Amino acid sequence: VTEPDLKGRHVVVSAGGTREPLDPVRFLGNRSSGKQGYALARTAAARGARVTLIAANSALPDPAGVDVVPVGTAVQLREAVLKASADADAVVMAAAVADFRPAVYAAGKIKKKDDQEPEPITLVRNPDILAEISAGRSRPEQVIVGFAAETDDVLANGRAKLKRKGCDLLVVNEVGESRTFGSEENEAVVLGADGSETAVPHGPKEALAETVWGLVVERLR
Ligand code: C5P
Repeated sequence: VTEPDLKGRHVVVSAGGTREPLDPVRFLGNRSSGKQGYALARTAAARGARVTLIAANSALPDPAGVDVVPVGTAVQLREAVLKASADADAVVMAAAVADFRPAVYAAGKIKKKDDQEPEPITLVRNPDILAEISAGRSRPEQVIVGFAAETDDVLANGRAKLKRKGCDLLVVNEVGESRTFGSEENEAVVLGADGSETAVPHGPKEALAETVWGLVVERLR
């Protein structure tokens, strides 16, 4: 699709995975490569949108014609998303955001002491950015899209999550050891708050991105 059906629109996409630091050299992270989010950013730009890509720790090159805002932690991602989405027509949260972060950040590298057991790591909750932007839309007509990686009862869990988060669309995919993360391909079902269900067969992440934008455009009209 290269029809400029997103022309004049501002879309915000988050991509990659947050890193929650324990000390200056260590973090809690996840396996998200950022590929799906970058594919969403590229395809939106090709459809004519002004695109802000909030990129969490992705090694991928900046897509041409896209505003890239690099972030590290969930708290930084939240700040960047809130700022960029103030005037956005659509927000797609493709980033893998850590649900928890270490309660304490050690300013110096944590050392092992020979005669001592290791200290447990205490975690605190991160803000749920998707739920927050869905509850407090900066514009009532804004379309908000979330992603959900599920390992079992994919559709039932997806429906429940869509409700809980309050977004318009939820892209649900089944994940396992080698599926989805870091892969060039994806397979998903896109659930709509209006009850719609769109199956996207196994294929390139671009194809899923195009389907998502198609569903967003329908809801923007
Ligand atoms: O609850 P769960 O992590 O499965 O939800 C995934 C969706 O919620 C993704 O769209 C992700 O970007 C978003 N999310 C978020 N803030 C969090 C956790 C997840 O915006 N703290």
